[in-house]
This record gives sequence, C-alpha cells and structure tokens, in this order.
Amino acid sequence: MLDLFADETPWSEPLAPGAVVLRRLARENGTTLLAAIDRVAAVSPFRQMVTPGGYTMSVAMTNCGPLGWSTDRHGYCYSPVDPLSGNLWAPMPDCFLALAQDAANRAGYPHFHPDACLINRYQPGAKLSLHQDKDEACLDAPIVSVSLGLPATFQFGGLTRSAPLQKIYLEHGDVVVWGGESRLFYHAILPLKAGNHPQVGPWRYNLTFRRAAQ
Ligand code: SIN
Ligand code: FE2
Repeated sequence: MLDLFADETPWSEPLAPGAVVLRRLARENGTTLLAAIDRVAAVSPFRQMVTPGGYTMSVAMTNCGPLGWSTDRHGYCYSPVDPLSGNLWAPMPDCFLALAQDAANRAGYPHFHPDACLINRYQPGAKLSLHQDKDEACLDAPIVSVSLGLPATFQFGGLTRSAPLQKIYLEHGDVVVWGGESRLFYHAILPLKAGNHPQVGPWRYNLTFRRAAQ
C-alpha cells in the first residue's frame, strides 16, 4: 500500500568517505515496515538489555533474521536464538531485505547480504552512547540503518572516540549507510525528544542491517 505521507522523492547527502544519508528512502513503505516490526515483536518482544557493565539500556531491542545481536552481563554476541525464549528469531521480512539491499546499492555496496537486523525502539529520553559497530565477523559489508517515527539527532564521528562529531537530524524514512573507510566510525543517538508521530506515536524505531557472519 502506498503511504499517504510519501510526498517526497528520496535524495542523498554525502556524510563521510563510504557513508551517505538516503533521505526519505523508506518513507513510501513506512506502513508496511511498521506492520512487519509488529510481527517480529510478536515473536520476540522488545526488551531493555543489560550491558556487560551492568547498565540497563534505555533503548528497547529485538531482532529478526538468521542472527540477532544481544548483550547481557557476560558480553555482546550474535546468536540464531533469542536468549529470552530459546527460540529462533523471526525470519527477516521480505520488505526489510528489499529495502536494505536497495539502500546498499544506492550507496555503492552492490552485494549486501544482511544476516542480522537489530530493531531499536526509543522512548522519549532514550539514547545510544558513542560506540562502534564492531561485533561482526564481516567488516567488508556496510551498515544500513533505517529511521522510522519520531526524529532523532544522530552523531557520526571517526575512527577514534575523540574525533569531531557531525550532527545529522534523522526523520521518518531516512536511511544512513556506512561502510568502507567509515565502517568502524563512532556514532551515537542523542536523547529522544518527546513527540507524537502521526503513524508511529510516541516512539522512534531504528532498523540496523548488518552482515554478522563471514
Ligand atoms: C545504532 O547505532 O545501532 C542505532 C543508530 C540509530 O538508532 O539510528
Ligand atoms: Fe551502532
């Protein structure tokens, strides 16, 4: 179904070497993507995970696809199984895979085969501190990151924690792709401001597609 809010043609903005923001790319399919998130969450509900340092994350997470990322007091890992239920994560919805591959192609990564999709749900105040995505065995593949719902400020830095940060305001349907030279660049999400998105309500969702296994 075409989305009533899809009134803009996507456009792209260079971000860093190997990195680009694909504005509004996911907007046309927003309704379909949101319904698929609900189906994944019916299999493996959103939960606030605990870091190895003992801190409960403000972002609630679930996963779909062959591998899912999780953290607990023992560390971070990718696993085919949801640690909460012992069952497999839900399969990756076709609309997710199609979007991730389209975004990767547009960003110059034509052979992206994601095997993991982490779904983050931000409530007002939720944030993600500065980090690198480096738990994946395959660093050749890019990261494809899709924003839905309330807007947020994304910070994108460099290879060290102290590198200067760019601030990028991400809105419903925006997709960021980073790989190549910027694959290990530090990034963060600033605390979410409260609001009400017409289709999503008081939340922001983020889909992060990765190739976790070789
Ligand atoms: C992440 O870094 O895993 C998520 C980024 C985002 O929520 O946009
Ligand atoms: Fe990340």
